[in-house]
Amino acid sequence: MAPCFSRNPAQRFARHLAPSLSGLALALCLGSLIAAAGAQRPMIETATQAHPAAAFAFPASPDPWWKHAVVYEIYPRSFQDSNGDGIGDLNGITSRLDYLKTLGIDAMWISPMYPSPQVDFGYDISNYESVDPQYGTLADMDKLIAESKKRGLRICLDMVLNHTSDKHPWFIDAASSRTSPKHDWYVWNDGKSADAPGVTAYQKRFEHEGKVPPNNWVSGFGGSAWEWVPAVHQFYYHKFYKQQPDLNWDNPAVEKAMFGAMRFWLDRGVAGFRLDAIPTLFEDPQLRDERELGGVNAQGDPNLAGNYTDNLPKVHDVIRRMRAMVDSYPGDRVLIGETYLPNTAALDQWYGGEAHDELQLPMDMLVGFHGDHDKLTADSFRQHIVEVETQVHGSQPLLVFDNHDNVRAIDRYGDGTHNDQINKLLATVLFTTKATALMYYGEELGMTTTTPTHKEDVKDPIGITGWPQEKGRDGERTPMQWTPGPQAGFSTDPHTWLPVAPDYKTVNVQVESKEKGSELAWFEQMMALRRSNPALRSGTMTMLDTSNPDVLSYVRSTGTGPAVVIAMNFTAEPKTLSLDLSSAGVTGTSIKTLAADDASLLSIGTLKNVTLPPYASWVASVQ
Ligand code: NOJ
Repeated sequence: MAPCFSRNPAQRFARHLAPSLSGLALALCLGSLIAAAGAQRPMIETATQAHPAAAFAFPASPDPWWKHAVVYEIYPRSFQDSNGDGIGDLNGITSRLDYLKTLGIDAMWISPMYPSPQVDFGYDISNYESVDPQYGTLADMDKLIAESKKRGLRICLDMVLNHTSDKHPWFIDAASSRTSPKHDWYVWNDGKSADAPGVTAYQKRFEHEGKVPPNNWVSGFGGSAWEWVPAVHQFYYHKFYKQQPDLNWDNPAVEKAMFGAMRFWLDRGVAGFRLDAIPTLFEDPQLRDERELGGVNAQGDPNLAGNYTDNLPKVHDVIRRMRAMVDSYPGDRVLIGETYLPNTAALDQWYGGEAHDELQLPMDMLVGFHGDHDKLTADSFRQHIVEVETQVHGSQPLLVFDNHDNVRAIDRYGDGTHNDQINKLLATVLFTTKATALMYYGEELGMTTTTPTHKEDVKDPIGITGWPQEKGRDGERTPMQWTPGPQAGFSTDPHTWLPVAPDYKTVNVQVESKEKGSELAWFEQMMALRRSNPALRSGTMTMLDTSNPDVLSYVRSTGTGPAVVIAMNFTAEPKTLSLDLSSAGVTGTSIKTLAADDASLLSIGTLKNVTLPPYASWVASVQ
């Protein structure tokens, strides 16, 4: 595998976690033909429980809702500002629910909105059972949940279990004295003598009172993973920023408190959680040094394997207990995992393998963020999709291409010439396999990454410490583009927390909702098809033409009724192909295009000698 270039925008965040992901591989870096279907199903009451907001109506289906869902990630700071302070908020999200409903999503994952000093923009939580005043109030959250439910939309929250903020009262107590009740809630160590054999010059940089950190572990966000606290004469461990001390999950009180926080929200009617950095809950009890891989990362720290701080087996015991707790609630509450993993076998463990008793939806990052510098290759997509469909003991895959930590997929996979088609192609994959789909706000518009060009403009701390190799994650967090008007309709404040991307006059909801061939129209069309077409909703999937290096094609079929064939050209050249569906037991010969992003494909009536323009996507029914 090619080595990782620090300037390669691909897999930016995956890279922070990559060394932990075992093995060298990742350690190296890691149209419009359809009716707006929407086929509304009869509404039934499902969930009932203590909090009044918890009772609401959802479509009837024998499957858990998340199996067919499109989950939409909202970065609350950047979605919609309702009070004119330049920062998005909960009431802003509530005001955009009708948009989200029309778009065709089923659920939202809202990135952390809890009280936080905002060092890591919410991933440093100081109170798990409230809302940051920047984003609103608990009453605003209840309203958002209730208004969502009225529209058949669910809310999943981001649950950060690995660490708290250093301003959380637990940590303040823990750091005040070795005998304080909360001291053991975090991971402490006395360190070792700075004169001990084998202590490197790098480790000596972190010397305090003659002590250096107990091992060579580095923080994913730069510097040693250990921070000295003079009051207790000890170091504490932090996988991420030093303002994010890791919790000690060996202490049962931590699990009790965190499950309690999850219950707090489940009782208020949330549909589940996205579990932040979940593989990192435990560390090696012996605190062994990580193997050095050679070279330094963008923060100037040695590249290390991650065998002792990621994916320790004990985490699975916690997850099984968590799953049992979540399952005790009605309404198919779901656990989604942020699981950057080296291979499908590792992903399967996060489902609980054959037992299916861990996460329902650990994210598959191998399709959307695969190792080969995000090259768009049909072979690699085919291989990864087949793997996740067939090697997880029948569990439900979750595909994702975009999030708040990585350069947007349109830029990672784009070739600079066909980016719009490529974004549509990725959406076609996202919405037409059997997998649950996870998308990121603005993906449906083709919003691009706007990386800061001056260090002084950077807000994400890793972009300041890593400049210029690592420019941080601001680029993928710019305000949602609603209109061609001031601040793209995101805020009335001209000083938005991050600048609005320069393309907002053409790339925005208002303009794209009137354009037939827009990104937004394609996303809506794909989601509507997925919802309404029985073969796309629940049919089997069979790969076609499997040795074709240029075109990815497959057929979805229920065995009764029309099948659906999907073909995408992964190259910048036109490609002609003939498809034989017999391997899937599909014998129909009447072909009707359901969706195509090129007019030449709209009237195709055969599976023989079909020519797909560069990066074209074609979806057709076969009867
Ligand atoms: C993963 C989150 O997605 C990222 O934004 C955050 O910085 C780290 N976890 C630490 O919580």
